[in-house]
Amino acid sequence: MRIALFPINKAVNAEAGANLLATLLAHAIEIRSVCRGRGICATCQVKVKGPAVAMSPKTPQEMKTLSLIDGADEYTRLACQFRALAEGLTIELPSGLFIEKLEEILNLIGDEAVADYRHPITGAILIPKDKIITRSLMQLFKNLTEEVNKVSQ
Ligand code: FES
Repeated sequence: MRIALFPINKAVNAEAGANLLATLLAHAIEIRSVCRGRGICATCQVKVKGPAVAMSPKTPQEMKTLSLIDGADEYTRLACQFRALAEGLTIELPSGLFIEKLEEILNLIGDEAVADYRHPITGAILIPKDKIITRSLMQLFKNLTEEVNKVSQ
């Protein structure tokens, strides 16, 4: 079964019933999974379109997390909780960069953000693309290490 991926214009093959996150990672598609597939972070969110019969139903954990993620809509799913059941799916990979460690952006102070920098748990855009990264913006990520540790254990 073929799954189309956007915006990278690629396709991957998967068995019916395959876990989407595992499929993407097996094909070396860059996607983060801060909570390691437990359905409690925002990093593996994707937008899925296609026939309803090709999509596994949302798990209770997925529904709970999606209700907390900034900007989630009717197409948003958690790749770690989603199974591809049949042909016809298109997957839009997450936009922006999920920051897992403050160190990832500390070195970029003074530069323009090359993408939306997003919180890995809430999915919130903390630094929009093209904005100059300032030291004061680091405040937005101040509890990042603790928050990431909490979901990744
Ligand atoms: S890896 Fe965290 S929700 Fe999927």
